[in-house]
Amino acid sequence: MWGKELMMQDIEKVLLDEETIAKRVQELGDEISKAYDGQEIVVICVLKGASIFFADLCRAISVHMKMDFMGISSYGDAQKTTGIVKITKDADTSITGKHVVVVEDIMDSGYTLTYLVKMLKDRNPASVKVACLLDKPERREVDITPDYCGFTVPNEFVVGYGLDYCGKYRNLPFVGVLKPEVYSN
Ligand code: IMP
Ligand code: MG
Repeated sequence: MWGKELMMQDIEKVLLDEETIAKRVQELGDEISKAYDGQEIVVICVLKGASIFFADLCRAISVHMKMDFMGISSYGDAQKTTGIVKITKDADTSITGKHVVVVEDIMDSGYTLTYLVKMLKDRNPASVKVACLLDKPERREVDITPDYCGFTVPNEFVVGYGLDYCGKYRNLPFVGVLKPEVYSN
């Protein structure tokens, strides 16, 4: 066995298929295009998890934009963050006076985005909004909600469409739940 089939045997169920994701991403793109009609935005991708969502979302947005990328690593194990966030690559576009949209894969405890939004706001942008593909509100530990959210998901560990477990499964074209035995191996 090889390739996608090998990954598929670790998946318990598909939560969001390709078509469902594509349709919702276009809706988010339309919503964002309408909100910033006639304006220019800076769209910041939070690496690496948001990369696939970012590529699709940007192409669904019709206003002028600059794209930038931020790398972060949060301390903790593979499934949970601790709230301590380290910037491994900063965005290099000046955001002073600009409208910023931060694009992230999933909002879980909320620590990562709380930290990032605060950091970006210190650079005096005109506004900072957050677009997340997924939201797991049951797990929230700080008071933050995404401004644009693709889907609310249950409290299960999901992979695919950019999301990983130990760096893997990002290239699955759908979002699926990982079999629990995968963690224990
Ligand atoms: P937060 O700081 O707890 O909101 O963590 C968000 C980060 O945790 C995301 O960017 C993901 O890297 C990771 N994460 C949280 N839940 C999942 C999941 O179900 N699958 C994959 N990564 C997740
Ligand atoms: Mg991530």
